[in-house]
Parts: sequence; structure tokens; C-alpha cells
Amino acid sequence: MSAADNPAPDLVAHGADLEELSVASDGCTACELYLHATQAVFGSGETGARIMLLGEQPGDEEDRKGAPFVGPAGRVLDEAIAEAGLDRGDIYLSNVVKHFRWKPGPKKRLHQKPSTRHIRACRPWLDAELTLVDPDVVVTLGATATQALLGNEAKVTRDHGQVFDWEDRLVVPTIHPSAVLRGPDSEERRRLRRLLVDDLVFVRERFL
Ligand code: URA
Ligand code: SF4
Repeated sequence: MSAADNPAPDLVAHGADLEELSVASDGCTACELYLHATQAVFGSGETGARIMLLGEQPGDEEDRKGAPFVGPAGRVLDEAIAEAGLDRGDIYLSNVVKHFRWKPGPKKRLHQKPSTRHIRACRPWLDAELTLVDPDVVVTLGATATQALLGNEAKVTRDHGQVFDWEDRLVVPTIHPSAVLRGPDSEERRRLRRLLVDDLVFVRERFL
């Protein structure tokens, strides 16, 4: 199983739109993650959105509902988007991996980071989204998305809020909204929330 098994490039070549790609991704078997997930979670938003926000993979709630960032991290992200003065219409929201990777826990399914192999297998779906949406900037949320694009040397704590060249596009890393939720105390959570909002304000001022 490899990216070569991913049907996305063929679909794009034949003129598929985002809706058709979304439906097709649900039938993807290019890596094994589809076996244990409820459904693929494709990006949401419109062709021509000027900002792409890119997360890691769907979480438990996203897996059940079939839409990106509709769980606890999504609520933090929604608030940060609004506070930064961004409009949902300006944004296309997606993940570097489309199926939820998890392991059984005592009470609920536990998130597992996707591996480099999963990210590589799923990359044609992201490339298809980039081709169709053609955003002016990709904002990577957290280490997985940032390193998937910019390489393993990229470091969100150091590089966030800066503009990087990547394959004829521009990338601005920032923290993942779930990092805000994981902050050890309310002061740290407030600081991280501020950082996320400030980076999104920077993106709005620079790209809209
Ligand atoms: N975390 C992500 O990275 N993406 C989602 O869609 C939800 C949680
Ligand atoms: Fe296909 Fe991506 Fe799902 Fe793997 S995670 S099966 S590559 S859509």
C-alpha cells in the first residue's frame, strides 16, 4: 500500500470537484487506517478560500460526524478564528491524514499520531485539495502538519507566526488548538490561546 494506490491524482486529472473528492476519499484504501475508522474526514470549505488551515487527522468526534474540527479542539479553533476577525468563508479546513488513527483505551478511543507512512499515503488527497482550493497561504496547526510540509527540523514553538516558502506556496505554522486544551493551568492555556489568535491575526493582516 502506498501513495501510488491513492486515486486522488486520477480524479483531479478527470476534473473531479471537492465534493466528488470527498466522497472518493471515503473509499480510499491507500493505507490501513480506513480499516478501523468510521469514515474518511475530508476538508471543508469552498474552492477559492484564501487561507487553508491544516490539522493532523480527525479526532474521535470528527470520525463519527465526518467533518473536520467539530470536537473540543474545533471549538477552540472556532473561537480563535472569530477572535482573529477571520470569516469562515475565507477558510478551507483540512487535515494531513483523512482517517482517524486510534487505539482502544479503558473508556474511549485514544488518539494515535499518524506515522510518516500514513502521511505519505494520504498526501495525494492534500495535493488535490491544494490544487482545487489554491489558497494563498497554508496555516499548519501543530507539529504533525508543520513537519509534514516543512520537514522534521521545523519547530512550532520557534517557527510559529513566520512565513515559509514551500513548493511554490506560503506556509505559516502555528500551534494546534488541542495544545491550548492541554495547557497545565489556566494561565498557560490563556497564553497559548493568545498565541494562536495572534498568529491568525497576522495571517489575516498579511493575506486578506
Ligand atoms: N485535530 C485535528 O488535527 N484535526 C481535526 O479535524 C480534529 C482534531
Ligand atoms: Fe487513504 Fe488517507 Fe485514509 Fe490512508 S488515511 S486510507 S491514505 S484517505
